[in-house]
Amino acid sequence: MTPSDKLGRELRDLRISLTDRCNLRCFFCMPEGQEYEFLKREEILSFEEIARVVRIVKNLGVKKVRLTGGEPLLRRHLEKLVGMIREEVEDIALTTNGLLLKEKIKDLFFAGLKRVTVSLPSLRDERLSRIVSRNVKVGQILEGIYKSIEIGVLVKVNMCVVKGVNEDEILDFVEFFRPLRVEVRFIEFMDVGNLNGWSLERVFSAKDILQTISSHYKVQPLGRSKKGETANRFSLEDGYTFGIIASVTEPFCGECNRLRLTADGKLLTCLFASKGYDLKSLLRAGVEDSQIENFIRTVWENRSDKYSEERLELLKKGIKPKKIEMFKIGG
Ligand code: GTP
Ligand code: 5AD
Ligand code: SF4
Ligand code: SF4
Repeated sequence: MTPSDKLGRELRDLRISLTDRCNLRCFFCMPEGQEYEFLKREEILSFEEIARVVRIVKNLGVKKVRLTGGEPLLRRHLEKLVGMIREEVEDIALTTNGLLLKEKIKDLFFAGLKRVTVSLPSLRDERLSRIVSRNVKVGQILEGIYKSIEIGVLVKVNMCVVKGVNEDEILDFVEFFRPLRVEVRFIEFMDVGNLNGWSLERVFSAKDILQTISSHYKVQPLGRSKKGETANRFSLEDGYTFGIIASVTEPFCGECNRLRLTADGKLLTCLFASKGYDLKSLLRAGVEDSQIENFIRTVWENRSDKYSEERLELLKKGIKPKKIEMFKIGG
């Protein structure tokens, strides 16, 4: 039976971080200039271990799996894992920065990957390079997007909007991706982790994002496509849709159905969690699947997280909980 957590929310979505390494250093996620300690190879779950977890959580109601990182395309032979997961769950998606997409998407598609979300915070070379602290060209990422579309993969784009940094490109994103029919999701800058210099003043709100787009287009609200989805969706007159993910100003914890698995096998019940539950030891202890299923069920049933709804209150009180970093958990 599908477990419910303490707030009555069912488990539907598993997000799996495949590595904590990344070939970029976006300032809002993994700022340059910090000392990062990365996981060692033996600490990281194998494809077989991950596939086993997927097989087990399928019994607990999971319908959707998302592969994330760090940068998941850094994991070699990822298509093997995609194939293994596809045998269990049909809806499998990938979140990537797109740099390696062009060379990898074909194998991934043939292994069963049908959806990718590409993180792209700017369409201007110089600005993009500054944001990601690496010398990259927008064109490199676009080539991956074009190739994916050509093959038949459904592409979405995530734009993390930070006030004073890239909010002046919101309309450019709509104009650029509208003819391609690529849904852009504008994400409010979030206080994930402890390193990214977040403050409420740097959040360009959902309301402001919508106003920016509405000042040029007639916008129709569509709501969330399904219960528990992160994005509020909107359409333009020609049918183009975009989304806004407003975790700060319009939290959506009430229907949150996501469980996260880190690359080193910890279960996290919230994007803003400070502690994980060690699943890896159990996976490596030679126990039956039923014991693992019970462990995951108990973790979910004891869950009461709703950080985004509590954030402003905590902020007012000056409380800053220590949180896991975004690149360890992948969004
Ligand atoms: P689709 O299945 O394509 O609709 O994707 P999704 O909404 O599951 O998408 P995705 O993983 O692309 O989420 C987009 C972004 O929303 C993430 O990268 C995070 O930044 C943010 N996000 C996702 N899940 C959560 C969540 O549970 N809480 C909060 N606060 N933000 C989230
Ligand atoms: N706030 C909002 N979105 C973020 N992302 C990474 N860090 C942040 C943040 N601090 C986004 C990335 C990527 C996804 C994993 O989360 O753009 O699309
Ligand atoms: Fe890497 Fe994605 Fe984090 Fe950027 S947001 S540093 S691409 S993991
Ligand atoms: Fe879910 Fe935590 Fe995000 Fe709320 S803040 S939607 S509980 S992951």
